[in-house]
Amino acid sequence: MNVIKISADILECEKSELSAEDLKLVESSENFLKNAYAPYSKFSVSAAVLLDNGVIINGTNQENAASPSGTCAERTAIFYANSQYPKNKILAVAISAFFNGEIISTPIPPCGACRQVILETETRYSHPVKLILSAKNKCLIINSIKDILPLTFTSDFLS
Ligand code: THU
Repeated sequence: MNVIKISADILECEKSELSAEDLKLVESSENFLKNAYAPYSKFSVSAAVLLDNGVIINGTNQENAASPSGTCAERTAIFYANSQYPKNKILAVAISAFFNGEIISTPIPPCGACRQVILETETRYSHPVKLILSAKNKCLIINSIKDILPLTFTSDFLS
């Protein structure tokens, strides 16, 4: 029997250490937190998507009294980006969150369903999507969703 080890390099840094481009995306994400619709969880999430034409698309979580009908910030932003700019690669996504009126102190990683959608985006555009997870001061930078979604299920299995 073989043991398959899975590991990934995830960068942890202060906000002040971010590149100008990454900081701009994080700030764009934070600026849209106010547009989240999260009356049930009180947990507002915002995602800013950077396209290869320089356009930034924003999305926030949109909850529903029938909870499965709501959508996470990442999927709101990615599906909107794909709908508006189907030909443009998604290069990066910055994700931030607000709980009980304050920016969270620990960065939140995308949920399982959003990871699968980000994987589809990487496959579709043959390009890794850099994730910048930001909290009050701390950030995590992940270079590809495959780093946090190993043993991926892709369309390769369908052919
Ligand atoms: N949420 C997101 O928007 N993105 C994530 O990756 C995790 C969770 C939202 C869904 C729900 O509206 C709220 O956060 C609490 O789960």
